[in-house]
This record gives sequence, C-alpha cells and structure tokens, in this order.
Amino acid sequence: MWCRYLSARVLVVVVLMCLMMNELSLAYPFSESSLNASDANINVLFLSFFNGMSPNNKNVNLFYNNQKDGVYLLPGKGFTKLDNLNGRKSAEMWWNGYCCSIYAYDPSTEGGHQKVYWLIKEDGAYHSWDNASWQKRKGWTFNKC
Ligand SMILES: *[C@@H]1O[C@H](CO)[C@@H](O)[C@H](O)[C@H]1NC(C)=O
Ligand SMILES: *[C@@H]1O[C@H](CO)[C@@H](O)[C@H](O)[C@H]1NC(C)=O
Repeated sequence: MWCRYLSARVLVVVVLMCLMMNELSLAYPFSESSLNASDANINVLFLSFFNGMSPNNKNVNLFYNNQKDGVYLLPGKGFTKLDNLNGRKSAEMWWNGYCCSIYAYDPSTEGGHQKVYWLIKEDGAYHSWDNASWQKRKGWTFNKC
C-alpha cells in the first residue's frame, strides 16, 4: 500500500516535470520570435576597416572617433566596430608619416545604410556599402590630416 502510494507520487512528479519541460521548450521559440532580426538591427551601426595594402607595407594606425588609443592594422588585417547611429563618426589613419582622415560614418550621406566598409590602400581610403564595390573617398597627406 505504502509502496503503491510512493510510486503514484513519483509518477505525478515525473508527469509534472515533463509538463514543465514542455512549457520551457514552447516558451523558448516564442520569446525568440518576439525579438526578430530587424528589431535587433534597428539602432546598430557596423563599420569595417580593412588594410588592403601589399604585404611589405608598414602598419596603419587607426584612431576611431577621436579615441586616444589607436588600432594597428597590418596589411591584410581588418578591424570592425559596432556603434550607435547618432551622428558622424570620424577615423584618423596614420601610415608611414602620412595621414588620411575621414568620416567613417556620416548619416547625411549613407542613405540609411547601417553597414559601412572601408578599404585602406596605398593611394587612400575607399568606401563601400557591400564590401565589394569600392569608391575612393580620400587620399593621404604627408605629415598632416
Ligand atoms: C519584425 O520587426 C519589424 C520591425 O519592428 C516588424 O515590422 C515585423 O513585422 C516583425 N516581424 C515579425 C515576424 O515579427
Ligand atoms: C570583406 O571582404 C574581404 C574579402 O573578401 C573579407 O576578407 C573580409 O572578411 C570582409 N569583411 C567583412 C567585415 O565581412
């Protein structure tokens, strides 16, 4: 009798646990669908800087948006940055005594694009929205920005 009572309780506990796990697995896709990809992208700016110079070149030292610490980019190396979309973001690059200073992001000229790519070459900085078609935006100036 006592044994039967126990196994009935164990069964109830097992059934309850199954029900709870079911609810958890039902709840998970539900919360995911309420945070969809376009919501997540709404306020995020993605910036990519890639040093496309030939391998024998010196580092490019990139200062993002007036930050004091630069990022060293060897030829063939890239740097990506997430930021907000509020206002212009500058980037100052130094290479071999030359400077190239750009607006890495300028909301008035990006046409609503939230991904902006920069390719840094021996003749200057190239801009793209798709990391494939490039337009030259700025050359290097010796010893000043
Ligand atoms: C995702 O979010 C966008 C913007 O808020 C909305 O228009 C769209 O209906 C949502 N899609 C789904 C599947 O919830
Ligand atoms: C841009 O394209 C280059 C060359 O295809 C690739 O190496 C790089 O990872 C791409 N950058 C991003 C941020 O996708």
